[in-house]
Amino acid sequence: MNRLDGKHILLGVTGGISVYKALDLVRKLRKEGAQVRVIMTQNATRIVSALAFRELSGEPVYVDMWAEVTHWNVEHIALANWADLFLIAPATANCIGKIAGGIADDMLTTTVMATQAPVLLAPAMNTNMFANPIVQENLERLRRHGYRIIEPDAGEMACGTCGKGRLPEPARILFAVEQALSEHLLAGARVVVTAGGTREPIDPVRFIGNRSSGKMGYALARAAARQGAKVTLVSATDKLEVPPEVEIVYVTSALEMKAAVDAVFADTDIVIKAAAVADYRPDLVADQKIKKSQEQLQLTLTKNPDILYELGQRKTHQVLVGFAAETQNLIAHGTEKLQRKNLDILVANDVSQPGAGFNTETNIVTLLYPDREPEALARMDKQEVAERIVRRAAECRSRLHK
Ligand code: CTP
Repeated sequence: MNRLDGKHILLGVTGGISVYKALDLVRKLRKEGAQVRVIMTQNATRIVSALAFRELSGEPVYVDMWAEVTHWNVEHIALANWADLFLIAPATANCIGKIAGGIADDMLTTTVMATQAPVLLAPAMNTNMFANPIVQENLERLRRHGYRIIEPDAGEMACGTCGKGRLPEPARILFAVEQALSEHLLAGARVVVTAGGTREPIDPVRFIGNRSSGKMGYALARAAARQGAKVTLVSATDKLEVPPEVEIVYVTSALEMKAAVDAVFADTDIVIKAAAVADYRPDLVADQKIKKSQEQLQLTLTKNPDILYELGQRKTHQVLVGFAAETQNLIAHGTEKLQRKNLDILVANDVSQPGAGFNTETNIVTLLYPDREPEALARMDKQEVAERIVRRAAECRSRLHK
């Protein structure tokens, strides 16, 4: 299943130099299952031809209000009604000004005026133009009327200057589309996700680690942000791309992870502990690299605090989601952890099965609850598993807040 399956995205393209990025955006939207129709302004067609968008979208491209049509239809109204979401990327200062001023003088602006779908604009222009108070006022006016604005990126611009105004990379725009089309199950919620395997230092160059890749935790952070949560990702890995709109806190050891989670716990609504936390750490960390002078080397290990267990003892309003990686007696061991750690959901994961657990793209999990029957999920993509877990966590939160 793709995240935008069956969704109708109407993409408005205006005449900014970053139009070329919109071509890639069409591909990405379609790859996620969306059907894309494109409206271009005349000026946009001077930079990239309508043909390119037609080929990539697999649909006719609309430019002219007055063109001969092959079948009779009031095109701008039909398109306005067809859209689940109207995305304008890039949105020039001119186009923003026209929409904010109620001007509808071409196919794009007329259709925006007629649509009842959410409208998402990705402004892209020279830095001084973006900073211009009239442009800012127009954007503010649009926000007040419920239009969503994707903040431009800062960086080097096509005109040679450096500053804010670049069209964000297609991946970030795609995320904003997913967010706008989500059910907003976690709007206003604060979520903490932990990810990756902790590393417990032995000396300045060595550590005790584990096989966790962090993929499940990153997928959870993305899924929660997509549903509108403010997400902090406490990560013991720096190998993965941080999902858009997610605040990242890098940690190394279990003690650092505990400090990072404790610091935000009081203001958090949901904690999802997908990290593989080392149960033990070396008692003493050598200041200098240990030399191989002895035949045998003994390390004494000390137990790490169980971060999740301690949160379970302290929780007030928070929903706690834990993971259990098991190789046998999945339900029995999982249920014991669920109860002992005072959790709302335990994601039990049989890591001995092919397609489950560490370093795979898919996972096979069973969700355990204190008051309901276990829910076994089929083998699926980690992102999809994450979406399901986040949905269940959001349900727990609304039950608690009733
Ligand atoms: N966990 C934690 N702090 C620890 C150990 C585990 O917060 N020191 C969390 C993990 O993030 C996970 C859950 O507890 O969400 C269960 O982790 P797991 O390693 O499966 O269980 P343990 O409690 O360590 O039990 P055991 O290793 O004995 O199976």
